[in-house]
Amino acid sequence: MATYIPSSGGFKLKSYPDYSQLSEAAARFIIQEVSEKPNLLLCLATGSTPIKTYDLFVKFAIESSINTNGMKVIKLDEWVDIPPDNPATCEYQLQNQLIQPLGIKNYIGFDSEKPDNEKELAKIHQYLSEYGPIDICILSIGLNGHLGFNEPGDMLQPFAHKILLSETSLAHKMLAGLKTSPEYGLTLGMADILQSRKIILLVSGAKKKEVMQRFMQNQIDTRFPASFLWLHPDVTCFCDSDAWE
Ligand code: PGA
Repeated sequence: MATYIPSSGGFKLKSYPDYSQLSEAAARFIIQEVSEKPNLLLCLATGSTPIKTYDLFVKFAIESSINTNGMKVIKLDEWVDIPPDNPATCEYQLQNQLIQPLGIKNYIGFDSEKPDNEKELAKIHQYLSEYGPIDICILSIGLNGHLGFNEPGDMLQPFAHKILLSETSLAHKMLAGLKTSPEYGLTLGMADILQSRKIILLVSGAKKKEVMQRFMQNQIDTRFPASFLWLHPDVTCFCDSDAWE
């Protein structure tokens, strides 16, 4: 079947020679959005891909004295049962990379250590009912096509939920130093993501080439959750030439 890649419409593909340039472009994009809407709600993924984008975003925000006081941040997902001060957590990454350096007060995320996961899910659901939808959702794509911890399967879930982690997620290098791996993750759901005003998808490196090729087939499939981004009216994909040429 021929692959049709629209040059306009909801999906925009921006390809850069390398990871640094991709990250700089994405950081500048977010800076522009925050400048235009200082009280925006930003949803942030963690993992290795967004690291440089966040570093540069913080750097540019400080250098240009961008007012981030009103900015709201929500964490996309989290491993269950790992203390939040453990460097393996999404919490640790976000706190150290962005929340603390910018002194962000309006921040919310799943607390992975709270024994009552249902309460944590309800907390996020309530927050999004009150302050949502997300303005800018920053995502990267898993090697199995997951978004957050929306793992491939026969069904996807619309709202915040607890999910059994896939083998791909458990093999993620964030968990490499742990003695005991988590079994479950907490994540925003597909509707939470797809209701975002704008979505930024970051894809970098040769290891993402195969997944990017599948994504660009634009065939929507619950066994490849990222494919649902084709239903969204405003997705900008920042990728480097190792991932897609
Ligand atoms: P990565 O993780 O940015 O470290 O590649 C993405 C993911 O697994 O969701």
